[in-house]
Amino acid sequence: MIRAKGLSKRFGDNLAVDDVSLEVRQGEVFGFLGPNGAGKTTTVRMLTTLVAPTGGTAWVNGHQIGSADAQVRASVGLLTEAPGLYPRLTAVENLGIYAELHGVEDVPGQVRRYLTLLELWDRRDEPVGGFSKGMQQKLAIARALLHEPPALFLDEPTAALDPEAARVVRDFVDELRGEGRTIFLCTHNLDEADRLCDRVAVIRQRLIRVDTPANLRHGLYGRSVRVRLAKMTPALEDIVAALPFVRSVTPLESGLRVALDEPETHNPDLVRALVAAGAAVQYLEEEAHSLEQVYFDLMAESREAAA
Ligand SMILES: Nc1ncnc2c1ncn2[C@@H]1O[C@H](COP(=O)(O)OP(=O)(O)OP(=O)(O)O)[C@@H](O)[C@H]1O
Ligand SMILES: [Mg+2]
Repeated sequence: MIRAKGLSKRFGDNLAVDDVSLEVRQGEVFGFLGPNGAGKTTTVRMLTTLVAPTGGTAWVNGHQIGSADAQVRASVGLLTEAPGLYPRLTAVENLGIYAELHGVEDVPGQVRRYLTLLELWDRRDEPVGGFSKGMQQKLAIARALLHEPPALFLDEPTAALDPEAARVVRDFVDELRGEGRTIFLCTHNLDEADRLCDRVAVIRQRLIRVDTPANLRHGLYGRSVRVRLAKMTPALEDIVAALPFVRSVTPLESGLRVALDEPETHNPDLVRALVAAGAAVQYLEEEAHSLEQVYFDLMAESREAAA
């Protein structure tokens, strides 16, 4: 569980993080999205006690940063932007050093457990400098998990990876869900956030929005369906607009875009009304708004608000 209250960080004149309050539930995968310099890494560094906030405070797994830093650190795993592994040491040695540092009880057992889980056990005695980037990144995530922290912070775990390696890491994060661990994931990759996260926060110094990916999409635009008709006539537009549950209608070249709150409930009535009016309905589909579009719109909104 992570709870931040008014968390702020100022570097000289630069207010890098401004009054961030948020709550991440146990077991939740929480995405942290924002452009370069938005304050994502700084927030993670504050939450993992690597830098002290200049304002506000936070609790991580019940321990308050600034007053119980050792407990916070023992209860979090962190994958930083540049996961420094020792290239000349083997996978086992890399993990072993870290496990010892963290006071892990059964070092060989934990190292074996994670190398096996990540399908790196067969390569355990090779220097990690020869590992592919994806393998190195998985190893770095394993390293962050050796002491079984209830909260895991991943700062752009797939940023430097090719699509295939990124997928390997993403699949692993997906596997970690449902283990009850809280995962705080900084990312620029909107598909990744969409796929992996229960909720996402959009930040640009201040928090701009926090919601589920689905709510973000629907919340900005409302839900709407696209009706494709064999033949579109202006009369149909008026008939649909007069339906009580329809919020707005936009004529399209080959049909209508209809905004309504609950397609599941109202689509049947919509189709009935169209058919009764003699329309030939070819198909009906919900309009998908990508998280990417939502993100760009939120950024534009926040820039306007700042100006
Ligand atoms: N140690 C530091 N000293 C001075 N300024 C810093 C320091 N660390 C971060 N900053 C500033 O704080 C702001 C936020 O940086 P931060 O690294 O948190 O952004 P970010 O959202 O992680 O960006 P990116 O997506 O590029 O990783 C930036 O303006 C950066 O220059
Ligand atoms: Mg960063």
